[in-house]
Amino acid sequence: MIKLVQVEKYFRGRPALSIAAYTFERGGRYALMGPNGSGKSTLLRLLAGVLRPDAGEIRVEGLAADAIGYMPQFPYIFGFSVLKNVLIALPAGGAERRTARAAALQALERLEIGHLAARPGGTLSGGEKQRLALARMLVRPRQLLLLDEPTSSLDRAGTLLAEQVLAECARQGCALVMASHDQGQAQRLARTVLLFESGRLAGEDQF
Ligand SMILES: Nc1ncnc2c1ncn2[C@@H]1O[C@H](COP(=O)(O)OP(=O)(O)OP(=O)(O)O)[C@@H](O)[C@H]1O
Ligand SMILES: [Mg+2]
Repeated sequence: MIKLVQVEKYFRGRPALSIAAYTFERGGRYALMGPNGSGKSTLLRLLAGVLRPDAGEIRVEGLAADAIGYMPQFPYIFGFSVLKNVLIALPAGGAERRTARAAALQALERLEIGHLAARPGGTLSGGEKQRLALARMLVRPRQLLLLDEPTSSLDRAGTLLAEQVLAECARQGCALVMASHDQGQAQRLARTVLLFESGRLAGEDQF
C-alpha cells in the first residue's frame, strides 16, 4: 500500500527520520510508539504527503488521495460552526448538500458531540476538538487512516468510544497507522507495533 525506500527527513540539518525500507500493507493496523521527538509525527506527515522526504522515495500504490484520512497531533479547527468544520471534508456539489449535512451530523453524533453542531469551532474544549477532528476524518469512506495521538485529550469514555469507532473502520478493511504513547491502546487496536528511537525504526512487534 505504501512503500518507503531510503527515506530521510532533516530539520535544520539534523536528521529527524531515517528509514531504510518499510512497507505498510493494505488493511494493516500499525501503532507507532517511542519517546517524544523520536520521529512518529514526522513519519505520519510524510505518509500524509504534507511533508516531502529530503531523500528516498514514498510510493503510494492503489490508494486515491481522498481515501486517506490524516489527523494531525494538533488538528486545525476553524472558527466557523462545528457542523461546517465537518462539511469541509465533503464534496460541495449542489445536489449533494442535503446528504452531506446528514452525513456530517451523523459523524458528529457518532463521536457524541451532535449537540455541539451549531457552536463556533473555537469555543470547544480540547477533547471536544479532538472528537470533532475524528468526526471530520471519518465523515467520508477511507482506506487508510493516519492518526497522530488521536485520543491524547480524551477522557476514558471518549478514548474507548474513539477506539470502537476506529476498530469498526478497521473491520471494514481500512488500514490504521497511529502514533500513541499508550501501550494498552496499541495492543487493543494494532497488529504491528513499530518502535522509534531518535528517528530510526528500532523494533517491530507483531501480535
Ligand atoms: N518543523 C520542524 N522544525 C524543526 N524541527 C522539527 C520540526 N518538526 C519536527 N522537528 C524535530 O524532529 C524530531 C522528530 O519530531 P516528531 O514531531 O516527529 O516527534 P514525535 O515522535 O512525534 O514526538 P512526540 O511524542 O513528542 O509527539 C524532533 O527532534 C523535533 O524537534
Ligand atoms: Mg508527535
